[in-house]
Amino acid sequence: MEKFESRKKRNLDTQQERAAWMNEHDKNEGGKPAVGKLIVDGLEIELPLVVGTEGERGLDISKLRAETGLVTLDPGYVNTGSTTSAITYLNGEQGKLFYRGYAIERLAAECDFVEVAYLLIYGELPDAETLEHFRLTLRRHTLLHEDMRLFYDGFPFDAHPMATLSSAVGALSTFYQDALNPADKEQVDLTIIRLLAKLPTIAAYAHKKSVGHPYIYPSNELSYCENFLRMMFALPTEPYEIDPDFVNALNLLLIVHADHEQNCSTSTVRMVGSSDSNLFASISAGISALWGPLHGGANEACVSMLEMIMADGGNVKKYVDMAKDKDNNFRLMGFGHRVYKNFDPRAKIIEGACKKILQKQNTNDPVFDIAQQLEEVALKDEYFIERKLYPNVDFYSGVIYRALGIPMPMFTAMFAIGRLPGWIAHWREMHASPKKRIARPRQIYVGATQREFVPLEDR
Ligand code: ACO
Repeated sequence: MEKFESRKKRNLDTQQERAAWMNEHDKNEGGKPAVGKLIVDGLEIELPLVVGTEGERGLDISKLRAETGLVTLDPGYVNTGSTTSAITYLNGEQGKLFYRGYAIERLAAECDFVEVAYLLIYGELPDAETLEHFRLTLRRHTLLHEDMRLFYDGFPFDAHPMATLSSAVGALSTFYQDALNPADKEQVDLTIIRLLAKLPTIAAYAHKKSVGHPYIYPSNELSYCENFLRMMFALPTEPYEIDPDFVNALNLLLIVHADHEQNCSTSTVRMVGSSDSNLFASISAGISALWGPLHGGANEACVSMLEMIMADGGNVKKYVDMAKDKDNNFRLMGFGHRVYKNFDPRAKIIEGACKKILQKQNTNDPVFDIAQQLEEVALKDEYFIERKLYPNVDFYSGVIYRALGIPMPMFTAMFAIGRLPGWIAHWREMHASPKKRIARPRQIYVGATQREFVPLEDR
């Protein structure tokens, strides 16, 4: 335990050292702070230039309004850096993704999910002893409070698992009132463990409720992914054999989903956490943000689309044409990304794993065939080439979840289990930052100007 603690302290130091490094490098060769210049109405304004460790550059406009009365306008935050961060680096042009400096391909090949979760949250790869301690601690917190099960009784059997997940995670804050203070490091560490340990149980129970099967209690002898598969698929009436290839595939899927810097759900977690809301509440909000089909919900939408194409005779060209038609709001689900404009490295890793699992099962999933045909046609099409639209992480993840026997409504819940360490890492990093402030964007008001109130009888 002592070693675990000191390791965590060291990781925090590493973050601070990194922040200091970044400050130091925000300077020109002569040692002067680097600046950009903005000219508005003839007035020249100097803006500090912030340079990241990978050479990314941003203009710091945080004092712009105080000094000039101006705000910047950037709908959808396409061009706005909300923070500096030392967790994940991605290069959309080159299709590169690194967690804490390690390439995703290497982590996916060498680590399991728990190891990557530790890396993301605490900043360094754990040594063997620390990792073992982390695993054991997680195993001891997998059970849900028995009263939590009453919630499941109350939810309709066809509730979407993401609704169940966000409600159940929010509800954890009612059971663990002993650890809600974001400023107390020990309380936060306990909440981190509780969240990581319990989310797979919460998700598996959501599935069991939907199929009317008895809930399977976690077994603390099993690894994180083994336990999840057993809670999902075992029945009390017969033995359940865990397939090690399924465990490997699940580890890999969770790893590639584990973080993706300031995406919609992570920004939501930071936004909610910035008001000093507790970690359970912040993560519950992140789950809600992830649910949408333009974000994590795309994996479910993508398989629905592939099934629709298959039922319609498998004419992929027809659907590519529909996606190009500006009078039709149909989009190819699992295609395109706000940041990746070359390829999504996660999609490549998942496609490879998908082939392996299908080969092993000796099955030919027609949905996988349709996916491959669709990818081939779309990637040769001028519309997709011009707009740099490539398959994203959600394009093949649904196919592999199908092969593992995970039902479609659970796909986004799987994404949530994978993304949890990333959300936690960002929430923790935000709280550790000396620059933390409540997130509160500005706006440009375009509504009615002041007018006389008209009493009800005169309207
Ligand atoms: N199918 C057809 N056309 C598309 C698609 C698509 N999947 N994605 C983008 N486009 C087109 C747009 O119509 C637009 O064309 P235009 O320039 O002629 O108007 C252009 O490409 C740019 O698209 P935007 O919507 O402006 O790109 P943005 O960065 O805002 O959106 C997004 C990115 C939401 C991922 C988008 O590509 C999309 O809707 N994809 C499908 C949903 C999806 O797969 N989401 C998962 C993303 S990964 C993740 O969240 C884990």
